[in-house]
Amino acid sequence: MRVLVFSASLRKDSLNHKLAAATARMVEAAGEKAELRRMNDFDMPFYDADLYTAKGTPDGAQKLADLVTGTDGMILSSPEYNWGVPATIKNAIDWLSRMEPNPLRHRTVLLCAAAPSPVGGVRGLLHLRDSLETLSTFAYPRLLCLPRANEAFADDGSLKDAKIADEFQGIVADYLKFAAAVQSR
Ligand code: FNR
Repeated sequence: MRVLVFSASLRKDSLNHKLAAATARMVEAAGEKAELRRMNDFDMPFYDADLYTAKGTPDGAQKLADLVTGTDGMILSSPEYNWGVPATIKNAIDWLSRMEPNPLRHRTVLLCAAAPSPVGGVRGLLHLRDSLETLSTFAYPRLLCLPRANEAFADDGSLKDAKIADEFQGIVADYLKFAAAVQSR
């Protein structure tokens, strides 16, 4: 399987990108191929129905849609902004939602979040899950949240806490089984 592993922050030192990179290594450890990307790889304007009518889907959104449909699963790590979904990823979802056929339909996703707070970004993921589910994306029921993420990574990008690393490896492995089952239906 090829799995798109994608972080939604634009920040160079993004904690969510570190978490995405860590989960990408977990995908590879489970014997599958990870395609690691970040939001900056998919430049797109704010959704504007007039722009869509005049010019269609922007190249960045098309590139993301092609990756979503060309892979067998998706791991998405997103920051929580003000208990909600950052504009970056919501905007990308809005562009993809206008495409026909809908590239997110019947795809699977494992949602992840990293935050310095003790809550770990879970509230943002609940909103993100709603937007994806309304587009018929199958969100894996477990959410992978990393609280106090600013202290969680070693210099080589690995998770310092072996217990957390083991737990996350288990969630990623379970998600891969779920994605494979949905893909083969
Ligand atoms: C935040 N942050 C934040 N954290 C949190 O746990 N709950 C929240 O509601 C918010 N809200 C919020 C809003 C805005 C506009 C910013 C810029 C930040 C803090 C956030 O978790 C922290 O900056 C992370 O480091 C952002 O993720 P990346 O960029 O490191 O991946």
